Amino acid sequence: MSAREVAREQLLALPSAGLGAWPTPLHRLDRFGAAIGAEVWIKRDDVQGVALAGNKIRKFNLVLGQALADGCDTLVTAGAAQSNSARTGAAAAAATGLDCHLVLSGGPPGDADEDDDAGAGSTANLLLNHLVGATVHHAGVVSWDELNQRVDDLVAELDTSGRRAFAAPVGCSSPLGSLGFARALLEIEAQLDTAGVTPSAIVHTTTSGGTHAGLVVGRALVEPRSPLADVPIIGVDAGRIHEDVAFQHHALAVEAASLIGLDLAVDLSTTDLTLVDDQVGEGYGAHTAAAADAIDLLARTEAVLVDPVYSAKGLAGLIALVHSGELGGPIVFWHTGGYHALFDPHHGAPLIRRKRTY
Ligand SMILES: Cc1ncc(COP(=O)(O)O)c(C=O)c1O
Repeated sequence: MSAREVAREQLLALPSAGLGAWPTPLHRLDRFGAAIGAEVWIKRDDVQGVALAGNKIRKFNLVLGQALADGCDTLVTAGAAQSNSARTGAAAAAATGLDCHLVLSGGPPGDADEDDDAGAGSTANLLLNHLVGATVHHAGVVSWDELNQRVDDLVAELDTSGRRAFAAPVGCSSPLGSLGFARALLEIEAQLDTAGVTPSAIVHTTTSGGTHAGLVVGRALVEPRSPLADVPIIGVDAGRIHEDVAFQHHALAVEAASLIGLDLAVDLSTTDLTLVDDQVGEGYGAHTAAAADAIDLLARTEAVLVDPVYSAKGLAGLIALVHSGELGGPIVFWHTGGYHALFDPHHGAPLIRRKRTY
């Protein structure tokens, strides 16, 4: 067996928490494609069985799979106040009988006080966290690194009190979590083969990089003659949460690959992880007109929902690449989930109040 085949077997043998319904659907977006002038397919990671999960369930499946095998009883993870990742972690923990603590940036919503564990005033993801029984810790205004540090501190504290806790970093973008997307690449390879589609690119939204890194590792595992062997995997950055995004994603891919015995240190360059940097706007969580247009267009042509913080920025990047002539069909848009922010008044309401620009 070749090194690639051995790595592929190791990937498929990793313990998984077994959550979700797979494969997620893949279908063509006829009206949306006609509107932007290119054939577009969509991979529906927004459609899943675990509390409206989204892309992160692929990561948590592997991280929780290992933690359960290690006899852990409590997940600690972190994110922004409306984090999709944290919400998915909370749901995945509930679905596997684990306790869950979330360390979220910002303060408690509305007029709730710090100790209000019922989560008064919570909306969207924050509401879902409380519904599935997570304990929420509001960390105030802190950096991403500080959030991860608080997670580690809380794990140590819980361990001292007799729990067996484990950590998942912001975005669940650990090397092991990222491998969930290496598996996902193999999943879509089979679907594209059945559909007879050779994509010109796979476009998705990226921030902490686990999705991007994992898809790139998956691409290294397909047979050299597969239509996906050279497909550009384009991450549209939605938040610039790292100083050097390309470097971080590359390092994550190399480390993730090493977990299944695949050495990408030499063969993978930072430019093999294609990044688009022009959709961030004012930064993480900031609305852009292009993302708002993308939300509108996809909702009105296909009744598929994307959100202004993440998935709409990825879709806006795809539209811009088509309109500039840099990308032609068939393109796969990987819907990473995350429409929940639409139900947060801060994010959803401004969309219906605005004037459309297209
Ligand atoms: C809906 C959605 N899309 C994309 C991403 C980015 O994925 P990654 O953190 O793996 O870069 C996230 C991360 O939270 C997300 O919630």
